[in-house]
Amino acid sequence: MPADSPEHRWFHLCAEDELATANAFVTTRVGAVPLVAQNLKGRVVAFRNVCTHRFAVIHGEASGCGPLRCPYHGWSFDADGVPVGLPFNPTDFQLDAEGRKRLALHPASLARCGRLVFVRVAADGPSLEEELGSDAFARLAALSAAFPRRGGAVEADPDTEGWERLTVANLDVAWRPGHALRLHSAAPPGAGERFTRTAIFLPATADAELPA
Ligand code: FES
Repeated sequence: MPADSPEHRWFHLCAEDELATANAFVTTRVGAVPLVAQNLKGRVVAFRNVCTHRFAVIHGEASGCGPLRCPYHGWSFDADGVPVGLPFNPTDFQLDAEGRKRLALHPASLARCGRLVFVRVAADGPSLEEELGSDAFARLAALSAAFPRRGGAVEADPDTEGWERLTVANLDVAWRPGHALRLHSAAPPGAGERFTRTAIFLPATADAELPA
């Protein structure tokens, strides 16, 4: 995996409210690697979305809510990625605690910018702030704070007058002061269009202060 490959880059995944409840998950794919971020008992963690038993994809949906459990033989994994629920373990797998740890899911990187969640395949590398640049990182964090409420039916055409634009990683960020923030994240390289996402956020109040 070359150091400049997509697997070494951060990609915007979702806003943290999508992972706020127990077992909520959001998936994506970077190159050939499926990724999942999931809330497991209050911890939001990211892994390769691939079972370590026979390498099945664990969560096939782009997002949802449910245990981190492989659909094939039913192994379920905890927030450390360790398989903790193995149906028929005494007869079929016979894995003790050490054996289970060896079959922990491969971790992925997860970082936040304000209320926005980013993931990366590589476990090590530059921080999200280093990769985005401190100015863009601060700007994006301030925007996410200025528009905390999720919206759905707001008219949002960033090509009309009054909208401002910023491109950060795979994110097209557009906002109209006092009106709305639109986040459009392109699917990472190798991912299908179903991993392209658009979300609208609204200011806390109609006269909320906007970041400079
Ligand atoms: S392939 Fe996942 S539990 Fe067997």
